[in-house]
Amino acid sequence: MTEIKNYIEQHKDRFIDELLALLRIPSVSADPKYKDDVKKTAEFVSEKLIASGADNVEICPTKGHPIVYGEKIIDKSLPTVLVYGHYDVQPPDPLDLWTSPPFEPVIMDEKIYARGACDDKGQMYMHLKAFEIMMNNNSLPCNVKFMIEGEEEVGSDNLGEFCVSNKDRLKSDVVLISDTSMIANDVPSITVGLRGLSYVQVEVTGPNRDLHSGVYGGAVANPINVLCDMISSMKDKNNCIAIPGFYDDVLEVSAEERVEMAKAPFDVEAYKSDLNIDDTLGEKDFTVSEHTSIRPSLDVNGIWGGYIGEGAKTVLPSKAYAKISMRLVPNQSSDKITQLFEDYFNIVAPDCVKVKVTPHHGGEPVVTPTDSIAYQAASNAMEETFGKKPIPVRGGGSIPIVALFEQELGTKTVLMGFGLDSDDIHSPNEHYGIFNYLKGIETIPLFFKNFTVLSRA
Ligand code: BES
Ligand code: MN
Ligand code: MN
Repeated sequence: MTEIKNYIEQHKDRFIDELLALLRIPSVSADPKYKDDVKKTAEFVSEKLIASGADNVEICPTKGHPIVYGEKIIDKSLPTVLVYGHYDVQPPDPLDLWTSPPFEPVIMDEKIYARGACDDKGQMYMHLKAFEIMMNNNSLPCNVKFMIEGEEEVGSDNLGEFCVSNKDRLKSDVVLISDTSMIANDVPSITVGLRGLSYVQVEVTGPNRDLHSGVYGGAVANPINVLCDMISSMKDKNNCIAIPGFYDDVLEVSAEERVEMAKAPFDVEAYKSDLNIDDTLGEKDFTVSEHTSIRPSLDVNGIWGGYIGEGAKTVLPSKAYAKISMRLVPNQSSDKITQLFEDYFNIVAPDCVKVKVTPHHGGEPVVTPTDSIAYQAASNAMEETFGKKPIPVRGGGSIPIVALFEQELGTKTVLMGFGLDSDDIHSPNEHYGIFNYLKGIETIPLFFKNFTVLSRA
């Protein structure tokens, strides 16, 4: 323990510098113009894995961005931990809202500001440094495999196939991921559930061309107006999703479990004031924490059409578009929900427009066990480094590959994340606390130790 702390103390400046170097490479997976940078980032990760002592390090090409693999097998009879993370990041837009450029990391108030600082470069890189420490002081207690991908932010399209065709190579006893958040720096928590995702783009077409809004307005359907009506018909007055069948498969959480969950500290007033909103808006009969964890949601992520340039242009547009995401909870299926959405969207479309629904990537919801050796190992590790037992909480975000690990590899996951919800991931001015970065590096070796000890008991 003190040995780990000493190592971190001696090397922390370099640990931070290396992360800053990683953050300088703009690995935006969604935008083809960054393809070479994404590749450079994969090379950076593989070099650092090799430097820390990993064997069989390989940059595995896929139809999209490459997956970095590496391993250290010390003894086949010992347990194996598969570390998963992603080196790709979200696009940095809107750029003008950043106080410093997204790919020129700066440290302010003990936090590193850059796109990917928390999600997931900072959190992923903690694992490489924790591995370096264990290799250096000869304390790696079991086998470890690393799989760091470059397409998480675009739906991990090629990772499923990689897992299926590399089942043997990826064989492990547990998957360990740091890509989620904790309640607060003094309230550690472990994520024990993630929502699934169904994501669609819709197109509404009115007349065959843009029209003069005076000459035609009032007689011809405006696709933007119609799209807005269609979108508002998706929620009822209680903020429940009105798509028929949407809740059919939702696994209701028992009253006892909800009481248990409500014990996790949550301050609605602080939440509102942080977001500068006077009130929250969610499904009737559920709390704010429940809205973002055990209940599904539907949101328009973007909507466009018509004239949005300077000044006024009187136009009745031909087309309107929206991108819509639905977060799903256990037992809902993303394919089924996408189909329900598509059926509903077609049914509510008036005859004056034509509609098209294009499904994007999806993912299944997961709940991870709390009665496992792996959970216990993570809980004990965090308790030791934070001085407080972590609280199990369900998260609202999605990591689609977690369900696939279980399905394809039969391996359960531990989501031991060190971020904070206030780290502004996917937003301008994303940041990651240096405290969190170093705490993660300190905690991970303890997970390895605990997991090995508990596995062999
Ligand atoms: N790391 C996030 C997911 C996350 C964040 C889970 C915070 C829990 C707490 C991940 O990188 C992410 O952003 N996932 C996407 C889904 C993906 C298919 C684009 C998401 O949740 O929107
Ligand atoms: Mn992530
Ligand atoms: Mn993300």
